[in-house]
Amino acid sequence: MPETTPRGLTRLAFGGDYNPEQWPESVWQEDVRLMREAGVTMVSVGIFSWALLEPAPGEYDFGWLDRIIGLLHDNGVRVDLATPTVAPPAWFYREHPGALPVTADGVRYEFGSRAAICHSNADYRAAAANITTELAERYGDHPALAMWHVHNEYGVPVSACYCDSCAAHFRRWLATTYGTVDAVNDAWGTAFWGQRYADFGQINPPRLTPTVGNPGQALDYRRFADATMRENFVAERDILHRLAPGVPVTTNFMTALSQCDSVDYWAWGREVDIVTNDHYLITDGRRTHVNLAMAADLTRSVAGGAPWILLEHSTSGVNWQPHNPAKAPGQMARNSLAHVARGSEGAMFFQWRQSRRGAEKFHSAMVPHGGTDTRVWREVVELGAGLDSLSAVRGTRTEADVAVLWDWQSWWAQNLAWRPSEDADPRERADAFHEALYDRHLTVDFAHPEADLCAYPLVVVPALYLMTKAAGDNLRAYVENGGTLVVSYFSGIVDEHDAVHEGAYPGPLREVLGLSVEEFSPLLPGRNVRVTGPEGAELGGDVWTEFVVPRGAETVWRYADGPIAGHPAITRHRLGEGIAWYVSTRLGREGLDVLLGRAAEDARLAPRADLPHDVEVVVRSGESGRFLFAVNHTGADAKVPLDTPGTELLTGEPAAGRLAVPAGAVRVVRLDG
Ligand code: GLA
Ligand code: ZN
Repeated sequence: MPETTPRGLTRLAFGGDYNPEQWPESVWQEDVRLMREAGVTMVSVGIFSWALLEPAPGEYDFGWLDRIIGLLHDNGVRVDLATPTVAPPAWFYREHPGALPVTADGVRYEFGSRAAICHSNADYRAAAANITTELAERYGDHPALAMWHVHNEYGVPVSACYCDSCAAHFRRWLATTYGTVDAVNDAWGTAFWGQRYADFGQINPPRLTPTVGNPGQALDYRRFADATMRENFVAERDILHRLAPGVPVTTNFMTALSQCDSVDYWAWGREVDIVTNDHYLITDGRRTHVNLAMAADLTRSVAGGAPWILLEHSTSGVNWQPHNPAKAPGQMARNSLAHVARGSEGAMFFQWRQSRRGAEKFHSAMVPHGGTDTRVWREVVELGAGLDSLSAVRGTRTEADVAVLWDWQSWWAQNLAWRPSEDADPRERADAFHEALYDRHLTVDFAHPEADLCAYPLVVVPALYLMTKAAGDNLRAYVENGGTLVVSYFSGIVDEHDAVHEGAYPGPLREVLGLSVEEFSPLLPGRNVRVTGPEGAELGGDVWTEFVVPRGAETVWRYADGPIAGHPAITRHRLGEGIAWYVSTRLGREGLDVLLGRAAEDARLAPRADLPHDVEVVVRSGESGRFLFAVNHTGADAKVPLDTPGTELLTGEPAAGRLAVPAGAVRVVRLDG
């Protein structure tokens, strides 16, 4: 069995992507000296090094890699060694131009960037297997090797290829998945618009069409593209497992990035030995620490609650957004420790030393252009020391209060064309509900719709347009057994083929919610509705309204205006031992808070009004103890009540009663008993 923690790493992971091939070997000496100074424990090496490792087909140059790995080992730094299969060399594309991916409108990408890969291409697959084998044979028993880093961020920047090899591969995938072409015709509803296929050979990828293509085909193509990338990951992983038994294998995810929604991480989480994630602050004006918490919660959930590793984030600004602000003093440590609070076994960065050349030279690094007499470097050294004092948290698990259902496949389906409203954005609802729960100081686990939910007093469904019957049965059993459920609009509409469930909407949810939805009535941009409820409490909604017909549910809020005035807007249904809420409009921030407050009461989740806004409090627990993390994202000093005394690990001070958390700081208390 492969190990599930980096081999030989006895502290939290701290370090980053190390691309030493950009510098002469004299700089490497300084690198390892600085790594020691900062307390670096692990680095990722070789991610983009194929062209240097195999300069011509079948000719290898491992000398430089031998030397750098040896140097790292001599300096006590563990190595996360990559297979470089995300960056095939120029010679490879000269020989195999068919390995370059093609867009849906028939344009073939060129060599000269990175990750230009058709994952169906047989030549690519053979070359990737070959370089992986060479690396595994050479370094599989190297004492510095902590884990394998396969490829890099599958799914970005190319999420699918539409070439002829992919067409042939798609037909094979369909034949395996469906058996007969008639089963495909049924699933996709090809009777409509005369799209019927007589044999598999007539089916192509969903390439450019004059108007909207078949949604079932488009949805299956996303599944196929994801499965094809996963086949290639598994092929590399299996070579590594065979030639280097026991050494864990990972590939770095980007779980909560909406630009990387082409990967079904529930499926990928089952294939890796260690879940690792990359997270960058999206600086579009929203609260970046809330998105960070969401990414970390989602990554932990993909790992099944087990510890995971933040493999990349940034010391300061990135360079790939329209505006790339530097991090404020202290923000890097806050970000890093917020990930650790939510289950990461460390904090790693892109990259160790800032590039002088190439596409990412304006991306921050651990060693900035300005060298060591810089704020960033001083903070890096300080963070290294801080993480060193937190070794005891390794192996513990983050305690969660609430489950939020999340399904990439449902998003793929909902985001296809010709929906009732293009403003009904499932990701927006997931963010909004997560943020409202975050602000109530509830820790969120994300869950697949068919997962066992009985451990959670409250389950929230922000947007689940595609829902299988099994998921509906799961939610019904959850409520009957005493759970509290909150479902937001346009959920439970279609099955796994994007076919509308039989009967009234929302097919698999009608019974658990005690209602049906007769018609959707989305609002035009800028239009709002008011909903009035108990004791005159008024909430606001926009984007969406629906004509809801209660069939057992009680109406708690009603539309006061808009197209459905007078009819139910928010309902509550008692079923068995539990309660199911339904909200049929896009509630604003305050409305969500009121609704979740009512649901939390039903779920008997005690309010945490004693915790200040934007002071994040999360607990990790396990065999080595209970650890309370308090992350103060505000500019004011804060106090966090402790129900048990303990020791603050970053300062070494005893902690009891009300823990002082200075402005912008983090405190980690090992609780006694
Ligand atoms: C991704 C990649 C890295 C680097 C960073 C920059 O996460 O994996 O190679 O490009 O982004 O933020
Ligand atoms: Zn292709």
